[in-house]
Amino acid sequence: MNKLYLWGIIFTALMLLFTYMSVAGSEGGLNDDIVNILAIAGAVALVLISVFVVIKYVRQMQTDTADGQLADESWDGIGEYLNEVPKGWAIMFLLTMVWGMWYFTVGYPVNAYSQIGEYNEDTAAHNEKFNAQYASITGERLVEMGESVFLAECKICHGIAADGIDGKAANLNVRIEANVVKHVVENGSNNSLLGSEMPMPDRNGLFNNNTGALITDAEIDAVSAYVANGMSGAGADVFAGTCAACHGEDGKGMEYVAPSVATFTPELVTNILNHGKKGVIGEMPKFDRLNAKQKEAVGAYITSLSK
Ligand code: HEC
Ligand code: HEC
Repeated sequence: MNKLYLWGIIFTALMLLFTYMSVAGSEGGLNDDIVNILAIAGAVALVLISVFVVIKYVRQMQTDTADGQLADESWDGIGEYLNEVPKGWAIMFLLTMVWGMWYFTVGYPVNAYSQIGEYNEDTAAHNEKFNAQYASITGERLVEMGESVFLAECKICHGIAADGIDGKAANLNVRIEANVVKHVVENGSNNSLLGSEMPMPDRNGLFNNNTGALITDAEIDAVSAYVANGMSGAGADVFAGTCAACHGEDGKGMEYVAPSVATFTPELVTNILNHGKKGVIGEMPKFDRLNAKQKEAVGAYITSLSK
């Protein structure tokens, strides 16, 4: 017998066996369950037809020879038959082109319905509703809303207690820690903390006006401790002489000049959420998916933590 038929029969038998096993093994099995019996009959038909069709075409590939008249040209021994384009194929080709034009213009016009468009419209509508509903929230309720946003979006890095999980992210219960201040004073900072690019110079641009010289290592340590202590202790004179010109006497910052290093503010947090932040601790991603009110709320929550 032809090897091909032998493989066909083996394959068919195997497929039928697997089908039988999976149906008979299932709940109800073949015991007068008409649906299962129909399913098996369908599967048997599919297997038989598939095997028959595959065998037919493989046979044809093995035995067929091409016929017809060859064109005069020959490309390195590869010729071309002068056969007519099959009618069925040509009709299908034309119909496909007509269907394609219909699809783009009438069926699913490029500028009409799309799932992404529907999603965007729904999102915009929801945001409008959200803003209308929550625009007037202030005070305690805003802080509560911020806490929910924090627990959903921020605790994975900053921790449930917002303590930064042992240095994995910034500790938000204090405005700033000494090692962060020190790093910024030594290296400068360019994180758009004011909302737009306004870098702070590094130590080579920081003069202590009391001494008239560039800030020293000892002064950096002192001023870092001073800022981290909530603007108290030694280092006050360095701050007054070097930093106050931009950050203000009380460290609360000046609009368009420098951010507050004494307290968090909702604006500062919003700027951090809009631009992300890179520093000595690591990198915080920006949060485009929060809307303005959510940013304000989480800013109010964080501001409330360090008071
Ligand atoms: C020339 C003005 C200027 C001076 C002087 C200056 N700063 Fe700044 N500082 C800035 C600006 C602007 C930023 C915001 C930079 C940014 O967007 O990343 C900043 C940011 C900071 C930050 C980062 C805050 C954060 O949340 O990461 C700290 C800390 C800081 N300054 C501390 C100091 C200290 C301490 C001094 C004095 C030794 C000082 N700065 C002097 C302008 C100044
Ligand atoms: C992928 C981790 C990650 C997530 C999520 C994250 N943060 Fe941060 N965040 C950081 C890191 C790391 C820093 C410290 C950056 C640096 O080195 O100064 C930081 C810093 C901050 C600061 C700046 C503190 C400072 O001293 O200036 C604020 C404010 C802050 N995050 C708020 C948030 C809020 C609000 C969310 C949630 C909406 C959030 N973070 C989500 C990692 C994260």
